[in-house]
Amino acid sequence: MTDLLDAGERLSREELQALQLERLRSTLRHAYDNVAFYREAFDKAGVHPDDCRSLADLARFPFTVKTDLRDHYPFGMFAVPEDRIRRIHASSGTTGRPTVVGYTERDLETWADVVARSIRAAGGRPGHKVHVSYGYGLFTGGLGAHYGAERLGCTVIPASGGMTARQVQLIQDFRPEIIMVTPSYMLTLLDEFERQGVDPRTTSLKVGIFGAEPWTEEMRREIEERFAIDAVDIYGLSEVMGPGVAQECVETKDGLHIWEDHFYPEVVDPVTGEVLPDGERGELVFTSLTKEAMPVIRYRTRDLTRLLPGTARVFRRMEKITGRSDDMVILRGVNLFPTQIEEIVLRTAHVAPHFQLRLTREGRMDALTVRAEARTGATPEQRAAAETAIATAVKDGVGVSVAVEVVDPETLERSVGKIKRIVDLRQA
Ligand code: DLL
Repeated sequence: MTDLLDAGERLSREELQALQLERLRSTLRHAYDNVAFYREAFDKAGVHPDDCRSLADLARFPFTVKTDLRDHYPFGMFAVPEDRIRRIHASSGTTGRPTVVGYTERDLETWADVVARSIRAAGGRPGHKVHVSYGYGLFTGGLGAHYGAERLGCTVIPASGGMTARQVQLIQDFRPEIIMVTPSYMLTLLDEFERQGVDPRTTSLKVGIFGAEPWTEEMRREIEERFAIDAVDIYGLSEVMGPGVAQECVETKDGLHIWEDHFYPEVVDPVTGEVLPDGERGELVFTSLTKEAMPVIRYRTRDLTRLLPGTARVFRRMEKITGRSDDMVILRGVNLFPTQIEEIVLRTAHVAPHFQLRLTREGRMDALTVRAEARTGATPEQRAAAETAIATAVKDGVGVSVAVEVVDPETLERSVGKIKRIVDLRQA
């Protein structure tokens, strides 16, 4: 394995930290010199790039948040002249203007390198065929996966999202070893394999590289068993790069190694912004170390996790993401994440791994209904037992009462990309 590692992966921890500091200082200078937003923010906070003499000094610099990017729509965060931008991506977001990101030629090279490194960590090798079902377009998933797989020396099948029946056919005909897709769309593909009468355990697939949305160990077990593959986690966000910021190694499956030679992580208290020691849970914050077109300084991801020491690689790991602070539901004072419900639903007998959370308002109180799909052939008694089991597990495990409806098979909407777990009916 070690002979397959690239130069960055072979650094010692000390060499890595020295490289990070050098890159951090040059990124701070680049941002300050070329982006009015950063110059003003640093000046206002009374810090200058020269004040960064150690990695810990980064904590003196101000945070950047999503609205800062929106406020400078479309190109106000770019640090290079527009004719040096080779690609633009954008994330739609739920309200108003999209968030726009840009890449220079060198940024695209870096991105392909980190995705190639990710696919290799997942078990991909030159010559493998990679079926990419992440959406192609302004979303970074499809094209990010695509160029990384090519960089590793793989054959890419750029399927994108949708046309599920055809995807299943292509997987049978082209015989890819690797699939890159959201875990929720993998379940949609699973249904389609079964509909076509093909046993999903008999495909050529060996590894699935799943990300772009939170998913749990229970989901990993479900997908691994039903497809007879290894399922590993890939993480990223457009503002920082796209997919390939962090990747789980197939040999350990113990959280995601952050490609720390390019992306410097911090975990902060979501309320106070104070930097937390490794091992403590909080909000993940990233500073890019090598980006040219759009450096980001202390970008608040809203993703909740904790940092752990490296195992299969020198880089630190992040624990599988519990959720985004945006997706947290507060129910009678109790915080609840969709991943907590996923764990429970997937452990419950006679229900399929498809569920939805409906938020309604009853009087002045918010109420939550978990809708989960019955497995085909489940009897009315088994369905009723599943409803009770889910409600009890939520009450015991999360500490709040919810209503549960086990609905007929194939009635909940299926995902073609990132799934939307929460249906908010409170305004209606
Ligand atoms: O989702 C990039 C990506 C594409 C990552 C394909 C992995 C695979 P955005 O659309 O900007 O970019 O959304 C980023 O998605 O802040 C997380 O909340 C969530 N997310 C991404 N990967 C994971 C993951 C892409 N592995 C946002 N686990 C992030 C949990 C994830 N959440």
